[in-house]
Amino acid sequence: MRKILQKGQKEFDLCPKKMQARQETIIDLYRSIFGRSSLPDHQSYITLCAQCGNSRGKVKKGSEFETVVNEKLVKESQFYGIEGNPEIHKLNKGLKTSAKWFYGDFLDMVQEVAANDLSFRPGIINYDSIHFPTTDPDYFIRLLKVVMKMNWTDVLVLGNFVLLAHGREVSYENILDSFVDSAHSKIVFSTDFFSLYPHVYLYDGTGKKSATKMGTIAFYNKG
Ligand SMILES: C[S@@+](CC[C@H](N)C(=O)[O-])C[C@H]1O[C@@H](n2cnc3c(N)ncnc32)[C@H](O)[C@@H]1O
Repeated sequence: MRKILQKGQKEFDLCPKKMQARQETIIDLYRSIFGRSSLPDHQSYITLCAQCGNSRGKVKKGSEFETVVNEKLVKESQFYGIEGNPEIHKLNKGLKTSAKWFYGDFLDMVQEVAANDLSFRPGIINYDSIHFPTTDPDYFIRLLKVVMKMNWTDVLVLGNFVLLAHGREVSYENILDSFVDSAHSKIVFSTDFFSLYPHVYLYDGTGKKSATKMGTIAFYNKG
């Protein structure tokens, strides 16, 4: 099990398509929307992080953590990595860094961090999902609702979703439609708290022969 996971992770993390998607949907997008190259010191970067540490306690090459720190988008201490896989979380925790690592469900952990640290201010929230937008349409909207209720302004919220896999497809034009039935969407979309970035970023899934298609949508509040 562990070998399979690590083999898969390596392919995943070093995948040029994923690296390019991170660059374009997180780093470049943040800089173009907010007009600054780095997250302000008082803000944090919170993400569904996957494996960022290797079994030797070193930063994993090509990981999200390495990418955003090397790109000087964030300092190590601003990075909050959430992971629901205990083996991956253990590897992340093994890193000697001032980044913070959390084990559990993404949405639960975002709320837990907020409850335990009243000064917590995310500047980027990256829900880098492994699901179709239709799998749990409430989930991403609940995340937006938390951001709104906490009045976390000056923030970019990214939702990355599977759009094509195993012969099943959700058109990128229908990502938002998937959320409409969410019990929370009326609350979120009845305000002008969020602006929606007008383009969905589409890219092929990781791995050389992947037939998976992914799409990232972005909501932001410029403060
Ligand atoms: C697509 S990967 C994240 C990739 C990472 N952001 C990057 O750029 O390399 C998703 C990771 O989130 C974990 N995961 C999926 N859904 C989760 C959830 N609801 N809460 C916590 N972890 C989750 C998976 O175990 C997986 O490692």
